[in-house]
Amino acid sequence: MKKIILTSLFILSSFLIQAQNEIAPKIEEILSQLTLAEKVAMCHAQSKFSTKGVPRLGIPEIWMSDGPHGVRAEISWDSWDNAGWTNDSITAFPALTCLAASFQPSLAKKYGIALGEEARYRKKDVLLGPGVNIYRTPLNGRNFEYMGEDPHLASTMVVPYIQGVQQNGVAACVKHYVLNNQELWRDHINVEVSTRALYEIYLPAFKAAVQEGGAWSIMSAYNQYQNQFCSHNELLINKILKGDWGFDGCVITDWGAAHDTRQAALYGLDIEMGTGTNGLTTSTQNHYDNYFLAHPFLNMLQSGEIEEAVVDDKVRRILRLMFRTNMNPDRTFGRMNNVEHQQVARKVAQEGIVLLKNEDNFFPLDPNKKMTIAVIGENAFRPLTTGGGSSDLKPKYEISPLQGMRERFPNAVILHTLGYASGPPAYGRVIPSRYDVDSLRREALVIAKRADVVLFVGGLNKNHHQDCEGGDRLQYGLDFGQEELLRMLQDANENIGVVLLSGNAVAMPWLGRTKGLIQGWFLGSEAGHALADVISGDVNPSGKLPFTFPAKLEDNAAHHFGPLSYPGDSINQHYKEGILVGYRWHDTKKIKPLFAFGHGLSYTSFDLSAIQTDKKSYAPGEYITISCKVANTGQRAGSEVVQVYVGKTKSEVERAQKELKAFSKVMLEPGKEATVELQVGLDKLAYYDEKSSGWKLEKGEYVVYVGTASDKISKKVTISVK
Ligand code: GLC
Repeated sequence: MKKIILTSLFILSSFLIQAQNEIAPKIEEILSQLTLAEKVAMCHAQSKFSTKGVPRLGIPEIWMSDGPHGVRAEISWDSWDNAGWTNDSITAFPALTCLAASFQPSLAKKYGIALGEEARYRKKDVLLGPGVNIYRTPLNGRNFEYMGEDPHLASTMVVPYIQGVQQNGVAACVKHYVLNNQELWRDHINVEVSTRALYEIYLPAFKAAVQEGGAWSIMSAYNQYQNQFCSHNELLINKILKGDWGFDGCVITDWGAAHDTRQAALYGLDIEMGTGTNGLTTSTQNHYDNYFLAHPFLNMLQSGEIEEAVVDDKVRRILRLMFRTNMNPDRTFGRMNNVEHQQVARKVAQEGIVLLKNEDNFFPLDPNKKMTIAVIGENAFRPLTTGGGSSDLKPKYEISPLQGMRERFPNAVILHTLGYASGPPAYGRVIPSRYDVDSLRREALVIAKRADVVLFVGGLNKNHHQDCEGGDRLQYGLDFGQEELLRMLQDANENIGVVLLSGNAVAMPWLGRTKGLIQGWFLGSEAGHALADVISGDVNPSGKLPFTFPAKLEDNAAHHFGPLSYPGDSINQHYKEGILVGYRWHDTKKIKPLFAFGHGLSYTSFDLSAIQTDKKSYAPGEYITISCKVANTGQRAGSEVVQVYVGKTKSEVERAQKELKAFSKVMLEPGKEATVELQVGLDKLAYYDEKSSGWKLEKGEYVVYVGTASDKISKKVTISVK
């Protein structure tokens, strides 16, 4: 088997090298014909989402579009307004937190392929996603767009997504490189973090995206690192990204994230987008020739202050991007809003939904039973594919949870009322609800009292401060009076379940009197169908949390260290927790979370046995093979995620108790069992040594933790490294 894999890898790599070799001379040929002005023009925007080509030589423009969860509606040429097209409605896929929660890399591939086909059909050459910034605080407004708190999970899930997108001849643009872990002051905050945490926590998913995913472009973050903007950062781009990692694609700014011509020229920026040029606002009076990489750059080149070789490197990368996308004659044609895409959206939602609590087997509800279900909460029917900032979508349709319930429970009487209400979606502003809270609550209590079952559907809603770009959340608990309403509903009817739709952890003072709790993410076009699939038991939930739910905000590492740690002092910010992010903090400091990283229940039960490693001691360069038996000991089919964490007992440096190093999801029929085998390369146990500026594999004893959640470990196996 291994021989076949090696042979095919060799063929593939030689094909890729050959393809590369074919392109290189063409790039040189074009470069030799370009004027200096034409070269410079390719390095910056000509409109909100496009850059100039060279019509004289038949070189096309590059068209970009958001976002990570679907292709954004067409935007106007020179403003953020929608262009008002009538043929740009698309399939809205679940948010990336949901994809991460599936712990299923094969689904990430399907997701990327489907999304790439839609981007291709919409004639986009660069898709501005995925986002893989690490979940550091539950208040970050954009966590819903990312893949959680663990670098191994994010790295494993982002690679197939990128490969899927790019097989359509559309470039993924992995973002936001790097340390953009909050929205407050994002456009300038200077992040100070230990080099070890940078390499062990914040860089890995980007490194995997580039080296394994083969990302053709990457988007620089707004913030600064070591007092240099990420858009033109000598260490992050020239040394690490383009030097150490060998990135051969384009660095594209976040919109308006370039700040200096000389630095942009010399510190690795290739394409400048979204700069406001009249007094640095984002006014539509932008004049693209005044961009930092426009006339000011051309002047420096013409004066000889900057060598032409500098712009040539940028243009080579841009032309390479074109040969991979809009100048690739073999590119597919793409598809949009087809059944397969809708099925992928539903499947990802089904596999990412997490059953957090299920007392008295509250879930699933029996669709054949005549009963009255009170579905209470604005999120039961509020569109959630819209809002959130740049990942906003205009879907061809969106099935609401209420609609999903009505379709799947025809024998039930389903009552619905808002219960609570927020204002309309308004990026950057909070528009208060026009509803009277008391009347909403009175109405909710009436149907709660009458119902056999109460299903509260709440959470966040991608409004400003409610899981949205451009602002962080202002509180850890639910807003719009949901907590008070829940308490009243629990007084009225103890048979209550909660469905949270959000991209972040929340406080849960109402958890004790809640029998069933589902973490539903922003689930896209098929939201209502997927939720009803799980609530009815048609689908057995198998999602696992991609980030920790702390009981209270101060239990979270970033918040433990006070305001300089989060949100910073508006100029600087210090990631004082170092490598102890998320469960690394909770495990090591013994702070019990509400729900742990990797946690997720099922309608069946599983048992792990015969857990072992292939050897007791290993030499550098070897692999640890962990095997175990997984048995489905319940009455119905289901999937379980075997998780392997590794920790170092005694160490020369600070260590987290344990770190995720491998996982595998396995589907089993009732009564069946399977042997699962996972591999961990010894290089993955190395820590980043700041003294030697390199990775160091410590000798001695390690503990291999095998289980089905970070707080549900079945067995610990001690091994040693020679
Ligand atoms: C926004 C976002 C980025 C998005 C870009 C274009 O500011 O930070 O994720 O792709 O601008 O909309």
